[in-house]
Amino acid sequence: MLLEQIEHRWLAAFRRTLELCALAPGDVVGIVTESQSRQVLVELADLAVQAMGATPVRLRVPTPALDVPAPVRSTGASDALQQLEPVIAALSRCQLVLDCTVEGLLHAPELPRILAGADGVVPRLLMISNEHPEILERCLPDAQLESTVRAAMRRLRGARQMQVSSAAGTSLQIGLDGARVGGVWGYCNKPGQVAHWPGGLCLAFPGAGQVSGTLVLAPGDVNLTFKTYLRDRIVCQIENDHIVAIEGSGVDAEMMRGYYAAWADREGSQAAYAVSHVGWGLNRRARWDALAFYDKRDCNGTELRAFAGNFLYSTGANEVAGRHTLGHFDLPLRNCTVALDGVNEVDQGQLVEPGAQG
Ligand SMILES: [Fe+2]
Repeated sequence: MLLEQIEHRWLAAFRRTLELCALAPGDVVGIVTESQSRQVLVELADLAVQAMGATPVRLRVPTPALDVPAPVRSTGASDALQQLEPVIAALSRCQLVLDCTVEGLLHAPELPRILAGADGVVPRLLMISNEHPEILERCLPDAQLESTVRAAMRRLRGARQMQVSSAAGTSLQIGLDGARVGGVWGYCNKPGQVAHWPGGLCLAFPGAGQVSGTLVLAPGDVNLTFKTYLRDRIVCQIENDHIVAIEGSGVDAEMMRGYYAAWADREGSQAAYAVSHVGWGLNRRARWDALAFYDKRDCNGTELRAFAGNFLYSTGANEVAGRHTLGHFDLPLRNCTVALDGVNEVDQGQLVEPGAQG
């Protein structure tokens, strides 16, 4: 069992990440939390901020009641702030916001207004993923990871097509015209930046009608909404961005069908079945097998979105394509080959070193 308490080494990890965020003495740091936040992260953040001569200010709101038919996981779209004006106003005046909400504010409707700043201050926001501190410590970011992610984002922005294939049977064609490209390396040091820790991936939100083919989830691939390694093979047929068939006889496939159906029933649309984002992991410190070492309550699975060489296929909300839904699956796949305009970024699950892409 892992205890959740202040440990010197975890405080050191938080300090290191705050240094990478360019936190300066005298800065005011808004630590935004909700009643279901992992308290040890809030305490570590608070102490690390103070250790660097800056001032932490905590804003804690109650975790709102669930008003949907199924638990919401891994969306990065927390509804904790409930459009509360005083909270938005306070956070928009902090140099740095440390986001300790359960789901994270990455896609929260209040985020643009927070990042717009006020009184001459433009905040940056670091979402501290809801993980046990040991996970954050192991996945500590560094400047090398930033340059790796930035370079991958440049190549992704410059590409027109992503092709994904695997021996298991995946064969996807993804058009990138009009896609929005993002990337995260685990810290933010410029006004207006948003990051999450752990980081280390690049991704694209494709425009409407850009994705088709077959996505094959093989045993050992991961469903991060359920925080499980798949035991069975699942074949998803994708037409016009949407999964139109989930083929497979095991419990894994059944559970996916059931969760998708909950959102389709609730929302009266097929938006939950459509692609949200596609990308690949770049963090060599992040581990595919990490879920085996932690209880489900100890982790949020962000590490598995980032492990080097995974192909991350996600369904759910995609603003670029004009689709909104609360259903979200993040599905890291192993052993895929990911190519941009025919040039491999990932070769059978292994990151291709920059310059060796041929
Ligand atoms: Fe996602």
